[in-house]
Amino acid sequence: MKKLVALTGAGISAESGLATFRDSGGLWEGHNVEDVATPQAWQKNQKLVLDFYNERRKKALEAKPNRGHELLAELQHHFEVTIITQNVDDLHERAGSKNVIHLHGSLFESRSTLDPALVYKINGWQLNPGDKCERGSQLRPNIVWFGEMVPLMEQAAYVTSLADIFLVVGTSLVVYPAAGLIHEAPRGIPKYIIDPKVPDIVPQPNLHFIAEKASSGMETLFRKLKS
Ligand code: APR
Repeated sequence: MKKLVALTGAGISAESGLATFRDSGGLWEGHNVEDVATPQAWQKNQKLVLDFYNERRKKALEAKPNRGHELLAELQHHFEVTIITQNVDDLHERAGSKNVIHLHGSLFESRSTLDPALVYKINGWQLNPGDKCERGSQLRPNIVWFGEMVPLMEQAAYVTSLADIFLVVGTSLVVYPAAGLIHEAPRGIPKYIIDPKVPDIVPQPNLHFIAEKASSGMETLFRKLKS
């Protein structure tokens, strides 16, 4: 089976009702990144950070996978699929995708602020001040914040380097290192970008744009790959 690697971003979950970050009305319009998604924010105001992610978690729990997530899962019948997602929701898994790398962490995990190896599942939507790890330190969301290392980046780059087909769905490709993955994919393999607003990237051989929303763009791609 050929290997298909898909890099996804907030845009794939937009039709499930989850706000993207940089579109008009997006999350970074209503919130200051520096106040909620950096280690400095955590030092300054843990409650604000926890509330921000509690709200994200609540919304993600209410959301359902859309046709875009579903078609990505269906591709598993035809390809060996790995999804590298920048999203912290679990909609790919709920649509049935088996092989998902969460580059920026997960809303549904907490981790110890004393020992990063202590990671726990979050049941429900709340992580609160006073919730502690087994060693007695405050739990934080297991999310990769701006300014932090991306622990799964090496694995993601390796998987990408072996791809036969590379797909990008719903990301503005402005946040690194994730945005650089497209350059790790072998030169010349078919690459498809699905996004209603085509991101500004250096042209490459065999790079195709499908300027549609995730659900209809995935239908278009599915037909193309089948034919
Ligand atoms: N279908 C497909 N793409 C869409 C849709 C849709 N229905 N709606 C919007 N988009 C596209 C936008 O055109 C844009 O290119 O999704 C992209 C969303 O971009 P961002 O908001 O920048 O989200 P993303 O690229 O995932 O952000 C990367 O930034 O803030 C951080 O850690 C956060 O993981 C996130 C990272």
